[in-house]
Amino acid sequence: MSLKGKRVGIALTGSFCTYEKVFQELKKLTDEGALVQTIFSDAAGTIDSRFGKAEDFIKKAEEITRQKPMLTIPEAEPIGPDSLLDILVLFPCTGNTIAKLANGITDTPALMAAKAHLRNNKPLLISISTNDALGMNMKNIGLLLNAKNIYFVPFGQDNPEKKPNSMIAHTELLIPSLEAALHGRQYQPIIC
Ligand SMILES: Cc1cc2nc3c(=O)[nH]c(=O)nc-3n(C[C@H](O)[C@H](O)[C@H](O)COP(=O)(O)O)c2cc1C
Repeated sequence: MSLKGKRVGIALTGSFCTYEKVFQELKKLTDEGALVQTIFSDAAGTIDSRFGKAEDFIKKAEEITRQKPMLTIPEAEPIGPDSLLDILVLFPCTGNTIAKLANGITDTPALMAAKAHLRNNKPLLISISTNDALGMNMKNIGLLLNAKNIYFVPFGQDNPEKKPNSMIAHTELLIPSLEAALHGRQYQPIIC
């Protein structure tokens, strides 16, 4: 399937260690001709960490996609009424955002984008990255696995010895997962 002209939203949340992979995939998507709009959660758009400065990530996203990132709830809200996207990806998706989405909370630009997009009955893809996937957040992941129009990038344990509850998506499968979700299908196997 060609991604040329597909309108793809990438909502970044605060799993900063995953950003290198995010930018690799952003580049691949734009190289394939997708029109990519990034959205930053408040944490993603403001926290400087050992992985880099928020301001630099915002700038890099704009350079790769040639679109100004959405950084506020009012900027993300039109995704619903103006039907701005064909698919939205929460990438990376923190435990915090998983828990809020599963419980209908909409208090960041990334969650506003998800709510606005889902109201249009279009696919939402989730690329998880969280230390509590097999702990406190397992129930929320379970709720989302069973929710209409929600799909997952396949995921697995990344460090069972040192972080027994941690799970992370296989981000190199983002594009095939996205293509499947655009056809209303979950890419399989989902756990690997
Ligand atoms: C350096 C750093 C790395 C983090 N990595 C992760 C992570 O990989 N996964 C996660 O779920 N939370 C991680 N967090 C915590 C989130 O950033 C925090 O829960 C934040 O409230 C998430 O908000 P958001 O989901 O709205 O982006 C990290 C925080 C910091 C400061």
